[in-house]
Amino acid sequence: MGTERAGNHESRKDEHLALAAEQAREGAPRNDFDELAFVHHALDGGDADDVRLDVRLGELRWPAPLYINGMTGGTATTARVNRQLAIAARETGLPVASGSMSIALDHPQTAHGFRVLREENPDGFVMANLGAGRSPDDALRAVELVDADALQIHVNAVQETVMPEGDRDFSGWARSIERIVAVVPVPVIVKEVGFGLSGRTQRTLTELGVRIADVSGRGGTDFVRIENDRRPLRDYASLVGFGQSAVQSLLDAPAESPLVLLASGGVRSPLDVAKALALGARAVGVAGGFLTAATEGGAPELVPLIERWLEQLRQLCALLGADSPEDLARTDLLVRGRLREDCELLGID
Ligand code: FNR
Repeated sequence: MGTERAGNHESRKDEHLALAAEQAREGAPRNDFDELAFVHHALDGGDADDVRLDVRLGELRWPAPLYINGMTGGTATTARVNRQLAIAARETGLPVASGSMSIALDHPQTAHGFRVLREENPDGFVMANLGAGRSPDDALRAVELVDADALQIHVNAVQETVMPEGDRDFSGWARSIERIVAVVPVPVIVKEVGFGLSGRTQRTLTELGVRIADVSGRGGTDFVRIENDRRPLRDYASLVGFGQSAVQSLLDAPAESPLVLLASGGVRSPLDVAKALALGARAVGVAGGFLTAATEGGAPELVPLIERWLEQLRQLCALLGADSPEDLARTDLLVRGRLREDCELLGID
């Protein structure tokens, strides 16, 4: 049974969702966002009513520096979740990403579980999602399937390594990304899935023609744990903790890099959002942090949660004297403890 289930795309989608939801219910662990602290300047505050949350990402303009990150689709259960995510995106104006659409390209009968993202949210900002190893033609088909405004390309070598049925050859990914960027008519956002993007990777992405990347670091949803729980022997625990956090990845960004950085991975609160923006992220993605609301309460629970986050983000900007998300980059941040040691090891000032 084990191998049969492991080889089945559909059960994998449902297992990912169930195991990620279990992690989300456990509550977010301490992570590198806790090692960052804003310096409080008691007379710097502004007026929350004057704060404008809209942001620019290259040629894109988003109403807020927050988006629902790529999670799921392709089965009856995950289609229901996508419907709730799409409704929440429509009601709050947040951009929303699809989970990997490989399954829809290989098994077209599953495509409706992705189309729902567009059907429920006809005027919203919807991102298609595909792995780095897929062809330019597949990338075009994925964009077309949800009439996407952007395409997320995930680079998930760590996850594939731990996945029993995962890929073992990552050697063609850089070239594949370059070819996809060259043909896709919408912006391509290269993202990790919870292991971070080093400064070197960010530089390579720029050389490949990528303009936007989501560092998606460790400290939130942990795909090593998820895949390990799906292995018959659960024998890849040694990779837990692999990779860099979003905070480390942002701190590691090359000076003067033209790459627009988005941050995700372990974002648990509006304060984490503000910290990522202060480190230079243009917008912040949340997956696991919205998962419990999406799967248990659906849009009626997720919409007020997102609205509270946006309101608190506005209030935090006022507290910190920033009248826009970009302005948070002028705040003073302390880097503490283990994060400071890691930065020294990585050669980050
Ligand atoms: C994901 N993530 C993900 N990413 C991606 O690019 N394609 C995908 O298909 C999926 N699938 C997926 C399923 C589920 C259930 C979760 C929770 C997440 C990864 C996601 O976009 C994000 O990069 C990581 O989860 C880290 O962010 P959080 O969860 O810590 O906010």
